[in-house]
Amino acid sequence: MAVLFAGKKGLITGAASGIGRATAIRFAAEGAELTIADRNLAGLEETAAMMARTPRVQGYDAADYASCRALVDVAAADGLDIVCNIAGLLKWGPSDSFSAEDFDLLMHVNATSVFVICQAAMPHLLKSRGVIVNTASTAALQGQPYNIAYSASKHAVAAITRGLAIEYAAAGVRINAICPGHVVTPMTQNTPPPEGVDWALMMRNAPKLLDGSCEPEDIAEMFAFLASDKARKATGALFTVDGGQLAG
Ligand SMILES: NC(=O)c1ccc[n+]([C@@H]2O[C@H](COP(=O)([O-])OP(=O)(O)OC[C@H]3O[C@@H](n4cnc5c(N)ncnc54)[C@H](O)[C@@H]3O)[C@@H](O)[C@H]2O)c1
Repeated sequence: MAVLFAGKKGLITGAASGIGRATAIRFAAEGAELTIADRNLAGLEETAAMMARTPRVQGYDAADYASCRALVDVAAADGLDIVCNIAGLLKWGPSDSFSAEDFDLLMHVNATSVFVICQAAMPHLLKSRGVIVNTASTAALQGQPYNIAYSASKHAVAAITRGLAIEYAAAGVRINAICPGHVVTPMTQNTPPPEGVDWALMMRNAPKLLDGSCEPEDIAEMFAFLASDKARKATGALFTVDGGQLAG
């Protein structure tokens, strides 16, 4: 049976858990030769054991840009066709007490590191006419109460995606982003709503499907599509998978 990524070399960040893990498993099943990366080395080893092809396992810290560049050097040692930026961090809470330090941390981990990895990967992707798929969020497309820093960081991912797509389209490199709604992962399971939130504000954009929460595999499916030649005419676009959350 034909597979999507035969002979393709890819880097997947955030692969120790959740959406990154599901995407690594999916891409390996499609024949990709992968470097999987995260700050959680034990989680990466668990993911590696679930994959159909043994990956290269690489620790890094998204908040440390030298570490991001070193990661790309390792992943691109034999060439690089696909980069999936999936690592991310969620912290939220009422804005009157949200610290500027946490705001900066979310911007560094969720946004600046994505730019740094895209920048470091670009010389390799220009050679391979490769593809980048970033992870934004429905928080990139609307205001979300109590979630200002995360939402700002994901708006930044959308801007990075669109701007780079225009800059590199003529050179044949495609760059898109996925905007998941609620996905059942450790991020959402381990980050309960903070004290003092107004639930009416929180739920005004709930998913509309009967079971509107996504599984990580639902998002991995979109990563596989966008990273493959099936999406050859898609670039600079934001693809929402949210159970109808943003429909109105
Ligand atoms: N779960 C959701 O509802 C949802 C919705 C929209 C977008 N997203 C985005 O999807 C992506 C994956 O999230 P998930 O839900 O799978 O969460 P997750 O917590 O299961 O996975 C995130 C991974 O990122 C890694 N990570 C965090 N900080 C890091 C750092 N400084 N350096 C290296 N790795 C780091 C974590 O170790 C973890 O393995 C994130 O970018 C997240 O913002 C998630």
